[in-house]
Amino acid sequence: MTDRYAVIGNPIAQTKSPLIHGLFAEAARQDMVYGAIEGATAPGAFADTVRAFVAAGGKGLNVTAPFKLAAFALADERSERAALAGAVNALKFEDGRILAENFDGIGLLRDIEDNLGVPLAGRRVLVLGAGGAARGLLLPFLTARPAELVLVNRDATKAEALVAAVGEHGAVRACTCADLDALGRFDLVVNATSASLTSDLPAVPPGVFSPAGMAYELAYGKGLTPFLRLARNAGVGRVVDGVGMLVEQAAEAFHWWRGVRPSTRAVIDRLTIPLT
Ligand code: ATR
Repeated sequence: MTDRYAVIGNPIAQTKSPLIHGLFAEAARQDMVYGAIEGATAPGAFADTVRAFVAAGGKGLNVTAPFKLAAFALADERSERAALAGAVNALKFEDGRILAENFDGIGLLRDIEDNLGVPLAGRRVLVLGAGGAARGLLLPFLTARPAELVLVNRDATKAEALVAAVGEHGAVRACTCADLDALGRFDLVVNATSASLTSDLPAVPPGVFSPAGMAYELAYGKGLTPFLRLARNAGVGRVVDGVGMLVEQAAEAFHWWRGVRPSTRAVIDRLTIPLT
């Protein structure tokens, strides 16, 4: 029987995951199908949908908003990064058990280090935001040993709580937007707030951007967001959106499910929308 996979979210029409996994499967000659499920949001409905998918031969799911926490709760086993992120973006169904992973952070790291050629070791990194997206990237970032990882958020107490949760894994600290002026330039500034979804601008001073550095917007397909425009106007070396992260997290899930690592370059090129 052909193995079944899908992405579940609500809404789901915007998803690129079936396209990405379809291209991976074709290139890696895998006998599988990958669909999209619009999950019902009523209490308990997510678990019912997942169980029905497994009963119908489902082997794995990608999970997107608003089900990342429900997937976390449903899992029998969670990886360390999923546990720390408190959210799950991939499930695997094996021997009657539900295994949970979060590949968002590692996907971002692979894009930055392998595709964009910026190893984080020894670099100064600034992350804006302290919500789910920021939470998911902290552990993978710290394993890459940046010289310093600074977390800044409107609500400083949330940034401090996150730092307390991961502090043992490396050099990380929280600061307020007002402190940023004194911290100088960063090699990499990542916008992990949801501000780009509302076209709002995170309150960062232009002095954090470096002419040799990079500004990375996690969102994909939103064009030159206010954050990227601010960075460009401040003279940052490179502005990047989350297309590479999107494809790399998919590749991690594909490898986890199928045991085959797909090549990502052609897929990233196909999905790239130039930031003009
Ligand atoms: P996600 O899962 O996408 O990270 P989230 O958990 O709701 O979403 O977190 C949203 C993040 O974006 C938070 O860090 C939030 O800041 P607060 O914790 O202070 O609310 C941040 N955010 C949202 N809108 C913002 C804006 N207009 N300016 C700055 N930060 C914003």
